[in-house]
Amino acid sequence: MEIIIDGKKCEAQYGEYVLNVARRNGIQIPALCHYDALPGQATCRLCIVEVEEGGRKKVVTSCVFPVTGEMQVFTNSEKIQRMRKNIIRLLSARAPNNEFIKKLRQEYGLLPETRFSGDDKENCILCGLCVRACDETGISAISTVNRGIEKKVSTPFDEASEACIGCGACAFVCPTGAIKMLDENGIRHLWNKDFELVRCEKCGEYFATREHIEYMKKKYGEDKCCSFCEKCRKRIAGEKMAASYRK
Ligand code: SF4
Ligand code: FES
Repeated sequence: MEIIIDGKKCEAQYGEYVLNVARRNGIQIPALCHYDALPGQATCRLCIVEVEEGGRKKVVTSCVFPVTGEMQVFTNSEKIQRMRKNIIRLLSARAPNNEFIKKLRQEYGLLPETRFSGDDKENCILCGLCVRACDETGISAISTVNRGIEKKVSTPFDEASEACIGCGACAFVCPTGAIKMLDENGIRHLWNKDFELVRCEKCGEYFATREHIEYMKKKYGEDKCCSFCEKCRKRIAGEKMAASYRK
């Protein structure tokens, strides 16, 4: 089926989210909490657009709004610009010095927020992606704790979590770089815990924590993993494929 986004005809599948259709067609909609492998978060509200269906217009979050029929989408109408600016103001009040938020503020011509006194060191916008990533791996070492302005993401009692395997999925998905993960001298520091890093058997680069490797072995079996880094795994698979063609 076809929908129209900002006047452009775009091919779409039934049920596909408007944000994905727009991106595939080179139309950029700002989005912080959308991660392709973990869709449906819809917490940052940045991706709002106006949708016109059956002669009626409404504002929706494009990252979770599915295409179900003919529609026109306006990603940058006056109304959307006004609403998006307010969303950026709120994000900016929460994490005033975060580089991603600063960039958004500049793009939308907004000055730093002065009505609210945000924490200069805060980078988290409480989108929840990191908690979701941790849950999806089956670890659930972090969660949101406290309420209201005290709400934050953390391990239980802010202590080193026994459950955490140091895989770093939380840091990889975080859209604002709020989770500090530091690898130095063969040690990974994450969530108040230090993990020993293991070297790839082929290239010798550190690539995963010992706890992560043990977890993968238990989950997928000893033979399916876990001696090589991702680059080497791909290279080995490529070499095997090339060898099979030569036979
Ligand atoms: S730490 Fe990052 S991913 Fe987690 S809630 Fe905050 S902004 Fe989202
Ligand atoms: S990207 Fe849609 S609500 Fe955050």
